[in-house]
Amino acid sequence: MATNRTFTMIKPDAVENGSIGGILKMINEAGFRIVAMKYTKLSAEAAGKFYEVHKERPFYGELVDYMSAGPIVAAILEKENAVADFRTLIGATDPTKADEGTIRKIYAKSIAANAVHGSDSDENAQIEGDFYFSKLERF
Ligand code: CMP
Repeated sequence: MATNRTFTMIKPDAVENGSIGGILKMINEAGFRIVAMKYTKLSAEAAGKFYEVHKERPFYGELVDYMSAGPIVAAILEKENAVADFRTLIGATDPTKADEGTIRKIYAKSIAANAVHGSDSDENAQIEGDFYFSKLERF
């Protein structure tokens, strides 16, 4: 059964571009409630751990370098059917394939620097949220 929470990061390229406000506005207008949020920076070690599931992929090294290159915004979001609805809002991983009006279509530069992360399952939403936030940081 679908849960009502997902996890997102606004990635270093979008933070550097000054796109935090625009992306959060789209998230709010799509009906997501912010449960937890922080502005932080991943070490290379932490980025490697977060994306461990992609360790064998050819882009893993590039992904870790990119995700630890600058600050990010991490957040847990709440809405009915959160994981699927958030993936619809952000669009395809590759922004050239993302639908018009999606966050990645508007803000992403490339498949690597794709502006935002969104959990791909309820299980990963739980794991990824727990990676960043304690119970006391959730409201
Ligand atoms: P994300 O949704 O955060 O999950 C895994 C990330 O790996 C993805 O967004 C992209 O940033 C990155 N990624 C996926 N495929 C590629 C690829 N072919 N080349 C480079 N980076 C990729």
